[in-house]
Amino acid sequence: MEKITTLAKQRGFIFAGSEIYGGLANSWDYGPLGVELKNNIKQRWWKRFVQDRDDVVGLDAALIMNPKVWEASGHLSNFSDPLVECRECHNRFRADDLKNTNNQTPSTKKTLQFSNTPILQYKCPQCGGELTSQKQFNLMFKTFLGPVEDDSGIVYFRPETAQAMFVDFAQVLRTTRKRIPFGIAQAGKAFRNEITPGNFIFRTREFEQMEIEYFIQEKDWKKTFDHWLNEMKDWLKELGVNPKRLHYVEIPDEERAHYSKRTIDIEYDFPFGQKELYGLAYRTDFDLKNHMQSSGQDLQYTDPETQEKFVPHVIEPTWGVDRSVLVAMLEAYHEEEAPTSEKGETETRVVMKFPNWLAPIKVAILPLSKKEELSKTARLVYDELRKDFVCEYDETQSIGKRYRRQDEIGTPYCVTVDFESLDDKQVTIRERDSMKQERVAIAELAAYLKEKLS
Ligand code: GAP
Repeated sequence: MEKITTLAKQRGFIFAGSEIYGGLANSWDYGPLGVELKNNIKQRWWKRFVQDRDDVVGLDAALIMNPKVWEASGHLSNFSDPLVECRECHNRFRADDLKNTNNQTPSTKKTLQFSNTPILQYKCPQCGGELTSQKQFNLMFKTFLGPVEDDSGIVYFRPETAQAMFVDFAQVLRTTRKRIPFGIAQAGKAFRNEITPGNFIFRTREFEQMEIEYFIQEKDWKKTFDHWLNEMKDWLKELGVNPKRLHYVEIPDEERAHYSKRTIDIEYDFPFGQKELYGLAYRTDFDLKNHMQSSGQDLQYTDPETQEKFVPHVIEPTWGVDRSVLVAMLEAYHEEEAPTSEKGETETRVVMKFPNWLAPIKVAILPLSKKEELSKTARLVYDELRKDFVCEYDETQSIGKRYRRQDEIGTPYCVTVDFESLDDKQVTIRERDSMKQERVAIAELAAYLKEKLS
């Protein structure tokens, strides 16, 4: 993790938010390379699950919704984590995290209640002090709408993108004339006042999700659940994740979210332990039914053939964007011994082996030196290639150092313009993983790279 966070900061993928003011606990900003990486993930996801399918449509709803939404969805009463506080140092912890900490020894046989499962009383992991008994801490971020700060103006930043897909269900149905089964997809920010954020971008208070609410008839829930599980597996292949580091965990009744009848968490072997990456849930008709009751609106679906009216059931695959970025970086990170001279000397090369579609920069254009005639040709090559690919132009430092930098940010191809290029109108292309070099005519460069990068 330390290597990833250092590289992320040094190369401008991700750095601490508000740093010049000492930062803000666990807030992270995506820099120029990070935003490309994150956008590549979101765009690929959108293309795959929305544009390439005719049974899913998109939505981009407001972050702040009518607070009645959160009453109906159960978030106001149920969306909480068990919190304990140390009586000595006043640090606060999630009771379930203490339960999972291996080096904790229970101090007494007294039990606390969490999700109907008794857990043992633990000491404060910071100072060894006594802990208070647990209370439920609601994770939603509160704010006020408008200029008056009283209870009538209280609203919440959405803790999941999902609810807008239920609240807007009838509008989407009416305007798209979709028939069941069909899904609504949304990617965007969600906010949770996590008690213990941490592990870089793994758990933050502000993060992004990509979610699909897939509306079905109740009888089809099992096969639809299996369908989306396979879709999620295929997505992970595309992201370049080693299946050996993935675990599909069936969540037992007492640990499932309040709305779910079946949940599989897709967990990943992070350097800090096996933790949730994505989730798949069968939300039944819980949400639409509750919104129907609360709003008084009819959110039923009428089968056009049988005229049967029913409240659709829902399968929900959900992907965390930031956790996808983290896993993509962990999977891509490689250290290799690479030759530095003809005599067989080597040095450690750090290379981010992103799949081509994911790499933030696709092609780097590197004139061999800063000489004006080389720069001129290299700039022309750069201007031509950037019409088709995200490119970077770099003429500082030695060519060896520039190759290493491009390896570290995962650029699949480097194009070097040298003095020979001025005569033979060819350039050298270096491939990131094999480090093989090839001469290619400038006139054929774009077509060559298009084929390689496709
Ligand atoms: N609509 C269902 C839902 O929100 P969730 O398991 O609470 O389910 C879905 O969240 C995904 O969002 C998680 O699998 C994870 O990838 C991501 N996620 C949740 N909380 C997060 C946090 N505090 N920081 C970063 N990502 C988070």
